[in-house]
Amino acid sequence: MNISIAGSGYVGLVTGAGFASNGHKVICIDTDENKVNQINHGISPFYEVDFDSLLSSCVNRKRSLKASADYQEIAESDITFICVNTPNNSEQDVDISQIIDSTTEIGLALAKKNSYHIVVIKSTVSPGTTESIVIPILEKCSFKKAGTDFGIAVNPEFLQEGRAVHCFFNPDRIIIGEYDRRTGDILQEIYQDFLAPTIRTDIRTAEMIKHASNAFLATKISFINEIGNICKKLGIDIYEVAEAMSLDYRISPHFLEAGLGFGGSCLPKDARTLISAAKDLGYEPQLLQAVLEVNRKQPLRMVELARAKMGNLKGKRLAILGIAFKPNTNDIRGSLAIPIIEELLKERAIPIIYDPQALENARKILGERVLYSNSAKEAVDKSDCVLIVTDWDEFKDREIYRGKMVIDGRRTLLEKQGINYERVC
Ligand code: UDX
Repeated sequence: MNISIAGSGYVGLVTGAGFASNGHKVICIDTDENKVNQINHGISPFYEVDFDSLLSSCVNRKRSLKASADYQEIAESDITFICVNTPNNSEQDVDISQIIDSTTEIGLALAKKNSYHIVVIKSTVSPGTTESIVIPILEKCSFKKAGTDFGIAVNPEFLQEGRAVHCFFNPDRIIIGEYDRRTGDILQEIYQDFLAPTIRTDIRTAEMIKHASNAFLATKISFINEIGNICKKLGIDIYEVAEAMSLDYRISPHFLEAGLGFGGSCLPKDARTLISAAKDLGYEPQLLQAVLEVNRKQPLRMVELARAKMGNLKGKRLAILGIAFKPNTNDIRGSLAIPIIEELLKERAIPIIYDPQALENARKILGERVLYSNSAKEAVDKSDCVLIVTDWDEFKDREIYRGKMVIDGRRTLLEKQGINYERVC
């Protein structure tokens, strides 16, 4: 099929390249001309495992994917996936301005198209948003009727950054929230080669499935961190506890890694979205609020530990290893290194930061308030204490920490011999 993708970020571009490599013709629309240019040269605008080769083969060899800044070009496609960002704004509410802008542009393009078109919302939007915002804008701008002149569906993504390509080709489930049956049938056909079970449901149920899934993952992480904090006071190894727990098939070993908490652009945001949606409906979501509160405090426990070991942090040089919110990505949205660094700066300590992929993004936020290193070894050698915040593989080499005090935010190092070593949990 001819597919258009509105928004060429992690979700849009990985989804577009995935469909393009499955034989569809894909056009990725993005208002950022630089990004459009990079994509049309087969260059990925972000770091993602296995993605450069996938994108370049779709653009250069198969010629099944191209990018454009012109929304009118979606008229050549049969189906448009809305994959634009829905970030938090300064008040921590979800900013749907990109949803509104892209929906408006799509509506205007549909006004000039005579054949049936499908609009699929893949961006994460609060339950009820598609019916209350997206459909009215599409109908107003296209002078057409949802369900008859154009189809609508919600098809949430479950891509984990750092393994987005793998997640695209190996989904656990395909969720299709359809406004009209014809749309659901066509979407099911697009996903027919995937082995995962397909759930056909309605629009707002699909929106809720996405939020409930992410809110549960966040809850699982705050749960194991709370147990980890209790275990630390008892001198118990939380990772040993978690390993034994995970043998219960109902618990599973996944998302049971205690540490500094959850970051990223999704888990924190989606939990917050669900909380504000619940409150708007007159329900007090106590558990979800506690999940976020545990997560807010968790990274600060690393600073407390550093203070306990070193006393006053003023003037102390602390190596911060890892700024990306997790390994194998250069994304620092929701990175737990940021609150740690801000707290250290408040105490007039001197953070020396290193990350294999995310230093450029870090510099945009931290500027000259911190020192930068070109390797973990260099940062460690210049420091009085080492804080391992993101467990990149290259930080697992114990040799780089010889004689140093190390506080580990995850379980980066397994043996502790020969190192003055302590974990947050
Ligand atoms: C998440 C969801 O997993 C994915 O399904 C959704 O589509 C997008 O949001 P992502 O944000 O890329 O994916 O990262 P994820 O792998 O979920 O990790 C989120 C955070 O939780 C990271 O900061 C990670 O370090 C942390 N985490 C994860 C833990 O602290 N412990 C764990 O056991 C797992």
